Formats: sequence, structure tokens, C-alpha cells
Amino acid sequence: MSTTKKGIPETIPETYRKAISRVLIDEETLQARIREMGAAIARDYENKNPVFVGVLKGVLFFMADLLQATPIPLSVDFMSIASYSPSARDQGYVRITKDLDICIEGRHVVFVEDIIDTGLTLGYLLKLLRTRTPASLEVAALFDKPSHRLIDIGPKYLGFHLPDIFVVGYGLDYREQFRNMPFVGVLHPDAIKQKQDERSRPS
Ligand code: IMP
Ligand code: MG
Repeated sequence: MSTTKKGIPETIPETYRKAISRVLIDEETLQARIREMGAAIARDYENKNPVFVGVLKGVLFFMADLLQATPIPLSVDFMSIASYSPSARDQGYVRITKDLDICIEGRHVVFVEDIIDTGLTLGYLLKLLRTRTPASLEVAALFDKPSHRLIDIGPKYLGFHLPDIFVVGYGLDYREQFRNMPFVGVLHPDAIKQKQDERSRPS
């Protein structure tokens, strides 16, 4: 595949290419790691008919590829969440806007997460799912930014550790853009600065 000087595939829209400073993890590296994760999960859950649970929308690409890399009987379901307010989000509270359709009581649940940053959202959701008494509950995360962690959560299956930088692509967005890139890239500092300004604005 032909790429630009920055290593970005030429099929990527120009507006995206301009905003990306570099490719952090390319498509091939992502896919190879996800195949390994799927093989490990398939070994551990062979006769357990697990339910893979994901939170929309960031996990969309990872979920699709992980499911295909896990060749055992399994089910999949999704939740959607929204923040009550920035301060509520800082404590991990979220509002469930779409709950699971599948009853997870007595089932083996693999919670599939795109990226763990502070871990607050994940911590809240795991606590909620535990009240439904699944037979087991483990986390498979594609990315982990351990330097931002506020609560103690270690995913059983992990794709990559990430440095403390904002990344986009492969499902991850900046203002709902960049999800549809098959690799993970770093935004130009201008775009990141804009994001930090937003964060520091009083709520
Ligand atoms: P936290 O672990 O509760 O802080 O929230 C993690 C969520 O923040 C993820 O599910 C993403 O939606 C979002 N997030 C964290 N870091 C990034 C990033 O680098 N790029 C895009 N989204 C991110
Ligand atoms: Mg997410």
C-alpha cells in the first residue's frame, strides 16, 4: 500500500492526514496483536460460551476484529453511556442510555474496552455488571494508559500500553472524527491544545 511521508496510507482523507502528526501503531501491528489476544481468549473460554460486552462507539472496530479472532461459540452485546455532567464523569458516574439485551446472570462475561485512561468509567461499569452476578467478569482492553490511572484496574487481556498522549483512529475519535482510520495516530499539537483548553474550562 502506498503511504505518505508520515507513513499514512494515501487512501486516508486529506483533512485527516493534515491533522495527524504520525502513525503510532499501524494496521498490521494492530491486527497481529488482536489475533494473539483472540487466540488467548479462545483457549481460556473454549467451553464457556462467553458474552463479549462492549460500550459504543469507540470499541466498534476492536470488537469486530477481536470477535473474528476468537473462533469459539460466544455471544456479543453492547451498552451505550452518557455523562451526567463533567463533574459526575470525573467521579466515574455515567448514565446508561442503552443497556444490555442479554441477561448475564451466570454467564462468563468478557468486557471489551478500547482504551483505559483514568479507569473511572470502566470501574463504574464493572461494579454495575457485578451486581447482575455473572459467573465471571474479565476485561480485554486494546490500549492502556497506565500513567493516568485513578483506580486499580488491570485488564486480563491487553493489547498495548500507550504513552500519555491523545490518540485517534481504529474507533477512537476526536470530536467524532477519525474513527474510520485502520491505524492509530497522534494528532498535531494544535488539536491537542484545543482539547486541553476545553478540559480546563470550568463546568
Ligand atoms: P476513562 O478510563 O474513564 O478515563 O475513560 C476512557 C475513555 O476516554 C475511553 O473509552 C475513550 O472514549 C476516551 N479516551 C481516553 N483516551 C483517549 C484517547 O487518547 N483518544 C480517544 N479517546 C480517548
Ligand atoms: Mg470508550
